[in-house]
Parts: sequence; C-alpha cells; structure tokens
Amino acid sequence: MAKRPPTFQPKATPIRPKITPTGQAGNGKPAPRLMPILIGGGLLYVTATYVSMVVFKSKTDTEKQQDEHHHHGLPTHSSSVTPGSYDTNPVWEKLARNYDKEIGSDEFVMGIGLMRRWLVGQAKGDVLEASTGTGRNFEYYKPDQVTSATFTDKSESMLSEAKSKFEQYKTKFQARFEQINVDAQPTQKYDTVVDTFGLCSCGDPEEALISLARACKPNEESRILLLEHGRSHYDWLNRILDSNVDKHVMRWGCWWNRDLMGLFEREKVKQHIEIVKVYRWHLGTTCYIVAKPRTPHKEQEK
Ligand SMILES: C[S@@+](CC[C@H](N)C(=O)[O-])C[C@H]1O[C@@H](n2cnc3c(N)ncnc32)[C@H](O)[C@@H]1O
Repeated sequence: MAKRPPTFQPKATPIRPKITPTGQAGNGKPAPRLMPILIGGGLLYVTATYVSMVVFKSKTDTEKQQDEHHHHGLPTHSSSVTPGSYDTNPVWEKLARNYDKEIGSDEFVMGIGLMRRWLVGQAKGDVLEASTGTGRNFEYYKPDQVTSATFTDKSESMLSEAKSKFEQYKTKFQARFEQINVDAQPTQKYDTVVDTFGLCSCGDPEEALISLARACKPNEESRILLLEHGRSHYDWLNRILDSNVDKHVMRWGCWWNRDLMGLFEREKVKQHIEIVKVYRWHLGTTCYIVAKPRTPHKEQEK
C-alpha cells in the first residue's frame, strides 16, 4: 500500500518573549514592565483630565455665572468677591438639588470616589463629618467601625439632600444631622473628624481647621481625615486658578486657589493640629491628609 505523504505539521512557536530571571527578554533587551506603564498611564490620564476640566470650567464659569447670578439676585461683580465679603451659602442653597448630578462625572474621571473610599473607610468610633454637603461620603463609612455619626453643614438645602440620601443607610448606622458653621465652637468630642472639599468653601479655613481639631477627643488615636483641594505645585496652573477664582466662587461656591498645605504651616494651626500623612494628586491640587490633634500635653511643651 502506498504510504501517504506525511502531512505538514507546523511547529508551535512561542509568541511571548522569553523573560530571563534578570528581567531581560530572550533577545537580550529589557522586558517592558506592565505595572509601571499602567500606573503611569493612569496618572497621566487623570492629570490630563483634571487640567482640561480646569481650563474648560474657567471658560464656562465666566459665561454662566453672569446669567445665573443676575437671575438669582446674587452679586455679579467680581470685585466684591473676597472671602471676607462674599458668603458662599446662597450659592450652595442654589446648587444643592443638582449638585450630585453636576459633579458626579467629574469626580468619577478624576478618581475622587476611590480617594473618598480610602480616606473615609478609616473613620471609626464617634465620627463627625463637617461640611457634609449632600452626603457623598455615606457609602464609604464602615458601619461596624462607627459608633455614632454626626453630619453637619451650614447650608440647609445641602443638609436636606444629605438627610434624604441617608434614608438608604439608616439601617446600617445611626446618624444625627445639624445645620452649623464649621468654625463654631464644638460642643462634643469625636474619635474621627472628617471634612472633604469643605475648606475651599468656608469663609475662614484657618478657623475651620482649628475647630475640627478642637472637636477631637484629646488622645493620640483621634484622627482628622481631610480630602481637600487648593493651589498646585505649578505656577502656570496657579495662574489659571488665581485669574478665575472670582467666577469659580460665584458659580461653585469654592475658593479653588487656596494654599491648602500652607494652612498647616501657620503658627495658630500648628498649635492645634499635626499632619500624620499627606498625598497630593492632580498636579498637587488634590490633598489627601491624615492629621491628628495636638494633645494638651504637647501644646504645653511648645
Ligand atoms: C464642595 S461642597 C463639599 C460637600 C461634601 N463634603 C463633599 O465632599 O461632597 C462644600 C460644602 O461646604 C459647605 N460649607 C460652606 N461653608 C461652610 C461653613 N462655613 N460651615 C459649614 N459648611 C460650609 C457647603 O454648604 C457645601 O455643602
């Protein structure tokens, strides 16, 4: 019987480069490392998104604020917009209903949700959250760590949004709501004090920080958890923030050019609060800060 000619059997060849134990591809060239590329790409994406949003917001704020403020009887002249003379509360009253819708997608692309989760997940014991807004942090609290929660804000409408949102969490943990200024003298003491994106909105961030520190129980374990934003590491970006701050305040109730980290260098603040950890993102504008109150013992030493 005639033998069938042998069929062609292609040899499987590996398509991935061989990696040697020294991290080199088989051809002697160093193998590309995936993790740094992914992390670097992610950071670049978040930063580029942030810068585009700052520039875009600066433009649209200018156009929108004149119309809206005129309609709501608010000041339209930027010369009257200074922290001492301009109360952001009417802006918050106006923004409250649509606030989540307006900033939800910005926060998503900037990775703010992840930062909130990372920060707020550390809250434990008796917790105070100041400048709560619409309650965007509720979902990140760990109910088994929280003994009591108090949520405060100056704006009645923002707090009312927060109260409605809390309905879905009330079986998980108990909460109390109070309409109050962040720099009011605290009447109770807490294990954890949280403030996210509140120091950019209040009239006096120095007094606000001191008040947050005073609200802490005077022990080594108390923590102040802050996620805030302010000036950048870069002058070119600070110039954009500075030149548009008045329009931004009138539109968003927020002084986005504050020297947030500089606050912690002020003598008055240093007497009450010390930083444990800081991370900065978005060219230095977003600050993740874990701080603690200076204990009375340490205050006396100074
Ligand atoms: C940018 S929003 C942040 C809200 C919330 N913390 C968050 O992370 O989404 C700023 C909030 O600070 C509140 N606020 C502004 N000035 C305040 C003050 N002096 N005392 C207490 N809350 C204030 C506003 O009403 C608003 O709800």
